[in-house]
Amino acid sequence: MCISKVMVVGAGIMGSGIAQTCIEHGLNTLLVDISKEYAEKGAGNIAHFLQRKVEKGKITQEDREAALKLLQTSGSYEDGKDADVVVEAATENMDIKLKIFAQLDDIVNEDAILCTNTSGMSITKIASAAKRPERVVGTHFFMPVPAMRLVEIIPGILTSDLSEKKAFEFGQKIGKTTVKAPDTAGFLVNRIFEPMRNEAIYLVMEGNRPEDVDQAMKLGCNWPMGPLELADYTGLDTLLASMTKIYEELGDPKYRPCPLLKKMVNAGMLGKKSGRGFYQY
Ligand SMILES: NC(=O)c1ccc[n+]([C@@H]2O[C@H](COP(=O)([O-])OP(=O)(O)OC[C@H]3O[C@@H](n4cnc5c(N)ncnc54)[C@H](O)[C@@H]3O)[C@@H](O)[C@H]2O)c1
Repeated sequence: MCISKVMVVGAGIMGSGIAQTCIEHGLNTLLVDISKEYAEKGAGNIAHFLQRKVEKGKITQEDREAALKLLQTSGSYEDGKDADVVVEAATENMDIKLKIFAQLDDIVNEDAILCTNTSGMSITKIASAAKRPERVVGTHFFMPVPAMRLVEIIPGILTSDLSEKKAFEFGQKIGKTTVKAPDTAGFLVNRIFEPMRNEAIYLVMEGNRPEDVDQAMKLGCNWPMGPLELADYTGLDTLLASMTKIYEELGDPKYRPCPLLKKMVNAGMLGKKSGRGFYQY
């Protein structure tokens, strides 16, 4: 597939990271948000992160300038109607995503693929808003996007083989390793990773010390951070929402959110952001 233009919809943390990765790989990229000002804020963050890369000696000043020349911003999807790839990274809300995909499908060039970076909603459902659901595909990036190497490629039930292939090609073109994942809650990585962190919380509920659980996983499995440190860092409310979704969708008791996790969230112990979780901050 020839990709001469990418449109990224949503200029928050993920959208900016995706746009940064695209321009660093030589792709003309339009960053769109609900207003041009919002999109420009995202572009400002990209300029800042690229400057930090220059200061760390990871790229040259010329590389930074060349990348930034490929970036444009807008408050209108119309400006991206000639894009070959669209990546939607707007707020995680089904109504918002359905509206966006209905509009994108009408506006954007028929041959383009429409990707969604949802972290857990059904790709099939999001695609249902488009008249051509066969061109909608999940591309799940990880935080921080420029540094994380994986993109999960998630076809919905109506995604065509060609769209799936194009999504793989796009991921590879921007330097990522791509893996096919199922269109079920948690996709692939979180389906494994969230229950592991949930299990670590069961161990605490059974009387084990958080420090011991974390130390064991760091030294025994070579994890850079322990599962409970990481749960505190992500936010326990986010972990609970994710586990609840996996449990409800797959209906298997092995995904039951740990009662201690629920209690801590009810108590407002959300981890780092609230000052207290498994550790004090
Ligand atoms: N943050 C993460 O760790 C992470 C990881 C993987 C996937 N995701 C997913 O990526 C998406 C974006 O997450 P984020 O963390 O960047 O959120 P964010 O809140 O930082 O950014 C969302 C952006 O979308 C914009 N937006 C809202 N409605 C819009 C619309 N109709 N058109 C255009 N832009 C619109 C908002 O103004 C905002 O700038 C979500 O679906 C999220 O679940 C997030």
